[in-house]
Amino acid sequence: MLERLGLFAMHRIDPEKGHGLALTALRAGLVPLPGVVTSDRLRCSLAGLELPNPVGLAAGFDKNAVALAALGRAGFGFVEVGAATPRPQPGNPRPRLFRLTEDRAVINRFGFNNEGAEAIAARLAARPRGTVVGLNLGANKDSADRAGDFAKVLRICGPHVDFATVNVSSPNTEKLRDLQGPEALRALLAGVMEARQGLERPIPVFLKIAPDLDAEGLDGIADVALSSGLDAVIATNTTLSRDGLRSPLAGEAGGLSGKPLFEKSTRVLARLSQRTEGRIPLIGVGGIDSAETAYAKIRAGASAVQLYSALVYHGFSLVAEVARGLDALLARDGFSSVAEAVGTGRGEWL
Ligand code: FNR
Repeated sequence: MLERLGLFAMHRIDPEKGHGLALTALRAGLVPLPGVVTSDRLRCSLAGLELPNPVGLAAGFDKNAVALAALGRAGFGFVEVGAATPRPQPGNPRPRLFRLTEDRAVINRFGFNNEGAEAIAARLAARPRGTVVGLNLGANKDSADRAGDFAKVLRICGPHVDFATVNVSSPNTEKLRDLQGPEALRALLAGVMEARQGLERPIPVFLKIAPDLDAEGLDGIADVALSSGLDAVIATNTTLSRDGLRSPLAGEAGGLSGKPLFEKSTRVLARLSQRTEGRIPLIGVGGIDSAETAYAKIRAGASAVQLYSALVYHGFSLVAEVARGLDALLARDGFSSVAEAVGTGRGEWL
């Protein structure tokens, strides 16, 4: 009830202010949280990380790692914070976050607003332990060496996280997505892997890709992913496509997420799963708003999933609902683990 009231009020104010309020309410303990959600069926391992369940928080919700204590009790199996860039930066001018209510979608063009790697590292170092936490790595807009920025953030924050994600797929930093080309990507990842080897405790490194890659682009990514020492691929980030939207805000520039992204991102996931043949774990993101949609991602080839936009429309009670519902769906279909279900429905998306 309290949550419904909160959501109702939040949808009447500016979306970015609403997001700030949601973070404040979380930190103040005003949002009812279930604690750890797990079961024998949900417990799983992802690139060597032991998770209580496979439902994670996607990057961008807690960019500055300010709400980790609460997020650890929100029912997520793992949490990704960031994106962090080497130096602090303000991001794009406001407004830069839009709710497309009719489409159950969000458009954002934040442009990596964040407090910078040093400030975020200090918070990560002081976080309560017990939750698997990763950091989304980004590049400064005005950097002379964008590829080098990813390694830089990893060197600064790597000692305090369980995994890091190379994000070359945000549409909101001009030309960033050019780094997804095979040659540029190979060089960038070589630098990141070197930085990882320099850590006292080397952590898994993931790559997050865009949903707007064509088949050839995806095949190139699959080759690089398999040969560069990456530990997982996250598919996908937000899309530039505006297909099938009804909202008057559909024309806003930026990345689209939420329900309209579901099919597109799941098709990309399935193709990547086909191309990589289980040799690298995949994390499915984009439009998950129920246990059924999370289950569909797993059956399309994901070993774990992440969500963000649906929280805007359903609140935090969605997290435990998805995890527990997933448990029930796995049981219904006779699977005793998440791993058993991975890829079993891939053909439907190809
Ligand atoms: C994002 N997303 C994102 N991704 C990323 O890799 N780094 C980031 O900093 C951000 N920032 C960000 C801000 C906002 C406001 C949104 C809505 C999204 C993308 C996000 O992690 C996810 O990949 C997509 O939103 C698709 O999942 P959902 O939202 O449809 O569940």
